[in-house]
Amino acid sequence: MNVQWYPGHMTKAKRQMQEDIKLIDLIIELVDARVPLSSRNPDIDELGKNKSRLILLNKADLADERQNEAWKAFFQEKGFFVVKVDSRSGSGMKAIQNVIQEACREKIERDRRRGIRNRPIRAMVVGIPNVGKSTFINTFAGKACAKTGNKPGVTKGKQWIRLNKGVELLDTPGILWPKFEDQEVGIRLAFVGSIKDDILNMEELSLKLIGFLKEKYSGALLERYGIREGGTDIEILEEIARARGCLKKGDELDYAKTAGIIFDDFRSGRIGRITIEWVS
Ligand code: G4P
Repeated sequence: MNVQWYPGHMTKAKRQMQEDIKLIDLIIELVDARVPLSSRNPDIDELGKNKSRLILLNKADLADERQNEAWKAFFQEKGFFVVKVDSRSGSGMKAIQNVIQEACREKIERDRRRGIRNRPIRAMVVGIPNVGKSTFINTFAGKACAKTGNKPGVTKGKQWIRLNKGVELLDTPGILWPKFEDQEVGIRLAFVGSIKDDILNMEELSLKLIGFLKEKYSGALLERYGIREGGTDIEILEEIARARGCLKKGDELDYAKTAGIIFDDFRSGRIGRITIEWVS
């Protein structure tokens, strides 16, 4: 299977981000907790060197809690500050405030030594498409936030969202592009719905997901669909098709429809909290 990616405006996005990064102290990088490596672009490490770094394991509600903890430790070991979050429900948001202060402690101390008071920490959110950047900004900034434009008359100014505790967030997130050299990366991103389904062979992809679930989350398919997990991947797909009444005219099994159901269920957490990429 060949997963294609269309880079589109990536060069422009990268240039914009380089400019934006100059304005900030802290990079808040969102990764998808179910695929923490595939949903990263390590180029951000180069772009963001000399900046404080916070990684948010977003969509932690959909990922396996044991793996969430393992990934948290993994990134912490690499020197990142890490918080697990569910941007949709707001879980984890409180912890971020304190971690931001900690991550920017050096800057705060430096300012204090220079007699600079009340200069806000400036941060920006970055991440690949669909990782939850807009959801996060909305939830984190909440209702209490005030947009702080630049002075009147300056039309092209940046918009900052003023948060409490002296933190300002750039209101437009930086868009990173996934690293697609590795075919597996494309497949994992497809699993979690970060690549448009209409360019993918969903049936083939569903067989891969079934194979993965059988191996790593044995019992999950049985519990969801009441089917045996003993057969081959294709036999399991057929069992799910029958269990869900996915039939075409003439009682032929409708594989495409079945694949659609499996991915809907998986992506919304109905097959359980599942992490695709495990800390090795
Ligand atoms: P982006 O700006 O990075 O492109 O991502 P965006 O916020 O648009 O989020 C992409 C999808 O991921 C949205 O779902 C959003 O609700 C969901 N999402 C974001 N953060 C979380 C999280 O922490 N947990 C869970 N479970 N979902 C999250 P959607 O289906 O596209 O939209 P909607 O149906 O939620 O409106």
